[in-house]
Amino acid sequence: MKKILVTGSNGQIGFELVQHLRKTYGSDNVVATARKKAAGPVSEGGPFAFLDVRDGKMAGELLDSWRIDTVVHLAGILSARGEADPQLAWDTNMNGLCTMLEAARPRKCAFFFPSSIAAFGPGAPPENTPQDTIQRPSTIYGVTKVAGELLCDYYHLKYGLDTRGLRFPGLVSCAAPPGGGTTDYAVHIYYEAAAHGRYTSYIGKGSFMDMLYMPDALDAVVRLIEADPSRLRHRCAFNISAMSFDPEGIAESIRKVIPEFELSYEVDPVRQAIADSWPDSLDCSAAREEWGFAPRYDLDAMTRDMLQRVASR
Ligand code: SER
Repeated sequence: MKKILVTGSNGQIGFELVQHLRKTYGSDNVVATARKKAAGPVSEGGPFAFLDVRDGKMAGELLDSWRIDTVVHLAGILSARGEADPQLAWDTNMNGLCTMLEAARPRKCAFFFPSSIAAFGPGAPPENTPQDTIQRPSTIYGVTKVAGELLCDYYHLKYGLDTRGLRFPGLVSCAAPPGGGTTDYAVHIYYEAAAHGRYTSYIGKGSFMDMLYMPDALDAVVRLIEADPSRLRHRCAFNISAMSFDPEGIAESIRKVIPEFELSYEVDPVRQAIADSWPDSLDCSAAREEWGFAPRYDLDAMTRDMLQRVASR
């Protein structure tokens, strides 16, 4: 049985992944960590510890005292927040990653790292973006993600650490809010549709981005963690996505449930520029072939589920 430590446990992914991992591996085998304690299932449903991911001494002590063999390192600053404070994004994302890798290295912990569609920039082919292609991102977040992918690959090559990772697209979920991202509009739109029947999008018409519904993202993390290493040709950064849509596309899907839903636009130039620099749709064949990526939700299935959940909250 694995003993897992998760960083960034209060975030959009961490909040649900901690609970999913506890169901999969047993509550006592998943230690949630974060800089702040949030009331609720993350801190109350199993072990919880405070951790600033730049604090190597504390990280090492936690890995030892809980006999951790797998680190899921989620703590990080997202794209739009990163543009507001690039130095903070570098410090948290890069120094945090280096610190956690260095803590994992002598203890031979397996290591999961979340990369992002942000690891691609304007030079990459935007349609069916290949697994292996040019990566010259134009955001600090993207820079830290490419560097993170390379660093995790390096730790595998140099030290034999079992590093693995996914390039997450925009994640849609309703348990914990996303914060500071560019794809967050695809979450907000469901709340506003359910509450007010309308939404004003900060992302413009025609801006396509890859997306994935959270249950499929949680499943993907466990599948990759459990994958047979002999099948992994790409370790640290698998393209994954289940759908690609622009604001018009998600609005159309919402109208199948709420026919009177209205969409308007007030484009935010910062987040629009970020969206413009990212792929429109990813090629996910490596993830399917090497570890069986198999998302279950398409746009309409996700919309039905999200609207039902949001309405019942
Ligand atoms: N959801 C992230 C963001 O928008 C992309 O990885 O920043």
